[in-house]
Amino acid sequence: MGMKYNGKYLKGFLGAHEIKALEGQIKDAHEKLHNKTGLGNDFLGWVNLPTDYNKFEFERIKRAAARIQKNSQVLIVIGIGGSYLGARAAIELLRSPFYNNLKKDTPEIYFAGNNINPTYLCELLSICEGKDISLNVISKSGTTTEPALAFRIFRELIEKKYGKEGARERIFCTTDAARGTLKELCNREGYETFVIPDDVGGRFSVLTAVGLLPIAVAGADIEAIMNGAKAAQDELSVCDLDRNDCYKYAAARNCLYRKGKSMELLVSFDPSFTMMSEWFKQLFGESEGKDNKGLFPASVTFSTDLHSLGQFVQEGSRLMFETVVDIKKPKQDLFINEDAENFDGLNFLSNQNMSIVNRKAFEGTVLAHTGGGVPNIVLEVPEINEHEFGYMVYFFEKACAISGYLLGVNPFDQPGVESYKKNMFALLGKPGYESEKAALEAQING
Ligand code: PA5
Repeated sequence: MGMKYNGKYLKGFLGAHEIKALEGQIKDAHEKLHNKTGLGNDFLGWVNLPTDYNKFEFERIKRAAARIQKNSQVLIVIGIGGSYLGARAAIELLRSPFYNNLKKDTPEIYFAGNNINPTYLCELLSICEGKDISLNVISKSGTTTEPALAFRIFRELIEKKYGKEGARERIFCTTDAARGTLKELCNREGYETFVIPDDVGGRFSVLTAVGLLPIAVAGADIEAIMNGAKAAQDELSVCDLDRNDCYKYAAARNCLYRKGKSMELLVSFDPSFTMMSEWFKQLFGESEGKDNKGLFPASVTFSTDLHSLGQFVQEGSRLMFETVVDIKKPKQDLFINEDAENFDGLNFLSNQNMSIVNRKAFEGTVLAHTGGGVPNIVLEVPEINEHEFGYMVYFFEKACAISGYLLGVNPFDQPGVESYKKNMFALLGKPGYESEKAALEAQING
């Protein structure tokens, strides 16, 4: 089935002719992507990944996941940015935001190395006490400080608990095929290693071992995910704006940007989608936000956030449009019974499924927000399962790449991420940063 674009709620904000006017630019962006002639063309491995992935490694991922499921109560996934968000999003969406607390025959999964907060790590270490654990450390560059630091701590824990030999059975590395400190360490210690292909950037890597190993450990069907992505690859490769929903979405958001909108608010009515929104924000934010251009990606989960940011959306600065992910069928439903006393006055909601109430909240909100001057794009998803997840990942990745080219930026680099690192290293006294350290300290103390 796959994600579908619905432009119905753009009426009064964007005419069909405005989207049509981008036809030539969409075609140009499509050709740049498919002929590998655009900016960042060294990083297009994700385009054909659903068909051209390493089948041998895929089987190895499944075997490693089965081993972890068998010998571990806890899997710690260490990574940051594109090296963790996709896996976490998939596990919350496909299994549950309550995954770790559910009754299940798969290990609990926690994420580390995505911050440098000591309390977070101390709490995680105490969760691991007395439990059998495995580690999956993920870093394409193999040099990122946050995961490297967390890995140092968890490697020490695991070696103390199981010895060097035992640790080898429980540490799985996902990194570059040849380069980086992590790769060197894996070679030295003999850890099982999975490869992030050279031409797949971090935020486009969820369909590689980066995402697939933790997702498989959580018990999701990674074969079905790849099949969903393949369906998207096939359907969304047509260079025809009228027939390609991904291109319609990219064109519509670009039109709204040109008309003065500076923020895209990704909306869902399902709390299990919240981490998908985090993945989306990283994908689009790091890809588009450069050269003083780009839509700021933000997200909300309704109806929760209707009681916080909803006020701003309805009546605050008119700077945003919303992209609402409309999941047609929830994974589970709940029947609302009639109450004889009707003390809470809620019998008008009874004798129907709760999903109907959520749907009316969706309809009511779209009408309220468009009425308040906020354009709404709707992206329809038939249901939540592995196939739809794979489709959605590919849909958003492609929409992001096309959006970057429409904007005239390189969607596949992230030069701005280096600035904070340089300052942090200098302030911490990393060798080679001596002159920057003095200048920064003068600023702080001045
Ligand atoms: O999308 C990206 O490239 C980044 O967000 C990276 O995923 C992130 O910085 C982590 O990098 P690495 O995997 O090299 O540790």
